[in-house]
Amino acid sequence: MKPIVFIGRGLSEYMGMFNLNPEEMEDKLILDCAAGVSSFRSEMKRKGFDVVAVDPLYSKTADEIEEISCKHLERYLESHKRFFGDGFADYRRIVHEMFIRDYREDPDGYVAGELPALPFDDGEFDLVLSSNLLFLYEDRLSYMFHVESIREMLRVGGEVRIFPVNNVHKRRRSRYLSGVLDEFRLYNTEIQRASYRSETGCGEVMIIK
Ligand SMILES: C[S@@+](CC[C@H](N)C(=O)[O-])C[C@H]1O[C@@H](n2cnc3c(N)ncnc32)[C@H](O)[C@@H]1O
Repeated sequence: MKPIVFIGRGLSEYMGMFNLNPEEMEDKLILDCAAGVSSFRSEMKRKGFDVVAVDPLYSKTADEIEEISCKHLERYLESHKRFFGDGFADYRRIVHEMFIRDYREDPDGYVAGELPALPFDDGEFDLVLSSNLLFLYEDRLSYMFHVESIREMLRVGGEVRIFPVNNVHKRRRSRYLSGVLDEFRLYNTEIQRASYRSETGCGEVMIIK
């Protein structure tokens, strides 16, 4: 079973993964769930948007996170270097630096917490985004974990978007997907082709509201 990797995506990748557009995010309180070392919150904040990030990682200090995530990042860049040029490695490092800087300077925006029980009130957020955890790591996270986690994100937010719906290693839709779609059939649920395609070939986003 492969470990969960602490790699963070940037704002432009989030826009593409979740098919977001700036107009629909105006005046919305957004939760980035399983945000890890992503720079999404940091970059959105600079543009005037309200984003809270939650991840179990945030029980650690900035120095501790930096130590762990730098190792993950360098290992990841080494193993992917034949796929991407130097520009990609530079971008990944910039995303990582933006996250660490914001985490040090403005820790209130980063809440320690984990699925399937988030430390937020019912309906606290307008939109909950969760990328590169659910479905991707189906080999280590159970079907019930997926159902409870999605139910929990719907408890704290009016709309939930999850990217991708693929298993990372098998490069096909998660075996949990049809069960999840059935479980949440009373919601307005759709799978959209995302405008972003990840380095692992994932390209679909699930939207539930
Ligand atoms: C691959 S990273 C994704 C980070 C970010 N969402 C992105 O796409 O760049 C996966 C993250 O899931 C977090 N994670 C693991 N178990 C979790 C749980 N039960 N609840 C919330 N986050 C969890 C890890 O700490 C890690 O930061």
